[in-house]
Amino acid sequence: MDVIVAGDRAGLVKAKDALGPGRLALVPTMGALHEGHRSLMRLAREHADHVAVSIFVNPLQFGPNEDFSRYPRTFDVDLDVCADEGVGLVFAPSAEEMYPPGSQVAVSSGEMGKNVEGAFRPGHFDGVLTVVLKLFNLVQPDVAVFGQKDAQQLALIRRMVADLNVPVSIVGAPTLREADGLALSSRNRYLSPADRMTALSISKALRAGAAQTTPSKILAAAKAVLDAGANLDPPLAVDYVELVDPRTFTAVDDTHRGEGLLVVAAKVGTTRLIDNTPIPPT
Ligand code: PAJ
Repeated sequence: MDVIVAGDRAGLVKAKDALGPGRLALVPTMGALHEGHRSLMRLAREHADHVAVSIFVNPLQFGPNEDFSRYPRTFDVDLDVCADEGVGLVFAPSAEEMYPPGSQVAVSSGEMGKNVEGAFRPGHFDGVLTVVLKLFNLVQPDVAVFGQKDAQQLALIRRMVADLNVPVSIVGAPTLREADGLALSSRNRYLSPADRMTALSISKALRAGAAQTTPSKILAAAKAVLDAGANLDPPLAVDYVELVDPRTFTAVDDTHRGEGLLVVAAKVGTTRLIDNTPIPPT
């Protein structure tokens, strides 16, 4: 079956009519689709009769010095990927459609949105939650699938759905990695072979941390690998490495008993990468 492409609410109504009855799952994306996105589409299919993918590079979640203008845009290839994965509907609105002049009410991501990744990207999670709520309201899916790769984003979306009584079930999907451990990301296409070698320090650090037992040892092991990465050519420039409570994204210490999440953000050249790994309770 061909993918139906919609660009606005009227197009969505027509497209959903053409899909017919049944449960609908939404996979929100910013395009430049890769195997990680494909794995989300496959998981979505397990939870619903129809799968919709949204493709929208959301200006609201990029800071003034971030890569909005150079974010990869590969719409035609993305449509082929969606068709290949049996996606019935692609929602690809314009920026004018999503943010008409005069719009000013937005979602606030609260304390959790200011921690960790939020401290480095002020306003980022407000922008993410605002666009995700708008996409939910437009597409009206029963289920939506998000990757654990963006763990703080996933935790905040779960919080928003609970706090604002949003009638959408949230499904989390595991992080897809290359054979050498690098987490798939739309931004990986900017990495030269040398950059990529340096970037591998991130997943290596996560594995080294996860092999330890207490929060202080976990952090120390991860930091040692990242410090070595800082001496490579090109060097790894670490924004943060933290062991956090996955529900609140606040740092934990050796008194912590529940599950933890080891999170890293680092730049290789101008490409900023994030990754994380769960730490089981001790
Ligand atoms: P984007 O970066 O395109 O990611 C879309 C979805 O794919 C997110 O849920 C993300 O966590 C997931 N994903 C990315 N890399 C993955 C990997 N290696 N394995 C599994 N899943 C992966 O995240 C966004 O877009 C935006 O913030 C969005 C939610 C669409 C709002 O604009």
